[in-house]
Amino acid sequence: MEDDLVVVSNRGPVSYRVDDGGDLVARRGAGGLISTLGPALAARARAAGRGEAAGADTWIAAAIGEGDRKAAANGPVDSQGVRVRLLAVDEDDYRAFYDVISNQTLWFAYHGLDNRSLTPSLGRSWHDAWEAYVSVNRAFAAAVAEEATDGATVIVHDLHLSLVGGFLAQDRPDLATAHFAHTPFCWPDGLAVLPAGARRQLLEGLAGHGAVGFHATRWERAFLACCAEAGVGAPSTFVAPAAVDPDDVGGVAAGDECARHLAQLDELAGDRRLVVRVDRMELSKNVVRGFSAFDLLLEEHPELVGEVLFLACCYPSRESLPEYAAYRRAVVAEAARVNDRWGPVVHLVTDDDFPRSVAALCRADVVLVNPVRDGLNIVAKEQAIVNRRHAALCLSPQAGVWEELGEAGALAAPPFDLVGTADALHRALTMGADERADRASRVRAAATARTPADWLALQLTAARRPAG
Ligand code: G6P
Repeated sequence: MEDDLVVVSNRGPVSYRVDDGGDLVARRGAGGLISTLGPALAARARAAGRGEAAGADTWIAAAIGEGDRKAAANGPVDSQGVRVRLLAVDEDDYRAFYDVISNQTLWFAYHGLDNRSLTPSLGRSWHDAWEAYVSVNRAFAAAVAEEATDGATVIVHDLHLSLVGGFLAQDRPDLATAHFAHTPFCWPDGLAVLPAGARRQLLEGLAGHGAVGFHATRWERAFLACCAEAGVGAPSTFVAPAAVDPDDVGGVAAGDECARHLAQLDELAGDRRLVVRVDRMELSKNVVRGFSAFDLLLEEHPELVGEVLFLACCYPSRESLPEYAAYRRAVVAEAARVNDRWGPVVHLVTDDDFPRSVAALCRADVVLVNPVRDGLNIVAKEQAIVNRRHAALCLSPQAGVWEELGEAGALAAPPFDLVGTADALHRALTMGADERADRASRVRAAATARTPADWLALQLTAARRPAG
């Protein structure tokens, strides 16, 4: 049935760990995809009157760690009205699929992170990893084919699973499929790092879906340019920026944990104004240049020393990759350098504590979001919902969310330009109260103009649109 929905992604809404007694302990899955897709599916379940009982919607995700693998053997579970099936694949294939292809190759290409003089460097092991990527995608397609009822709608999420639609088009042509990309897409020159065969397979796999969606028009245009250059027939495309559920993040902001962190932040900041950033410890987030720009701000405006504290909440990500470990060291070193120069002006926290991050966004006077490139950037929307001080948003025009919030009143923080970023921070810290309030309310209106349910509805419509 068309209304039956199967969503597919690498990370699922629930993940498991094995506790000391050998029992499985469930917890909510991590990451931006879960915090946008989870509420959208839960709202759909509530609207269909399914409440906590699983109904027609199925979410297929990878069994990632040991706990997930054990849980996968017990069969599907219910999570907020959605039936969740964890798929266990060969562990070596999974590492190659996730680390080598998804994170080190596609993520780097889409975000423009390669240092072309040295990376990527695609030896035999890379080619083997590509085969593993294909076979894991094939396994996901087979799981979808098992789960999906006749004519069901299938939405495949994120760069890990680019090829699922191509396999389904052959095996289950009755299904209405769409792929949704949470990352940017790169222009043909960026995709040229892939060997021609893999490049074609990637684009054909994506084009095998009934429709392909992005958070921003610029990524849609880049994808279409790649298809045109490779001579791959472009599928129908759509743009649907993800939305934040105000009740979800607002609930955390209103909670006791957040209140406790707010009290600690008040003590830490004292009378100083707060520049805040909240990110994964991620190369594309541009944390190092953010600190360098703050250093320049203090150099050019020494009157701000002692007046402003930069609170950076950078929680761990992809720690098995050497690139991420090196980046973390660079972030810590740059924060230390700035503090050596000016005293304790940067406060960097590197553990994962969502209520503390929300508290930081509530208390911020300025929020810095300066990625070198970002599919959307959900923090820019979350801060608009929870902030209590009319924070000024300094936002990279290279973030997909710029298309929604740039015109609405964010200040441009050009990601590679330290002078431009320092100027944006200075403007944010010195603008009059009326302008701050006006910009903050326009950013908030733009950030909340759509709901997660609207976002999901656009994906469903795109998948079900007849071809041609
Ligand atoms: C962000 C990205 C997604 C990615 C997710 C989790 O939300 O936009 O594309 O899938 O992070 O990444 P991870 O590697 O931790 O699963």
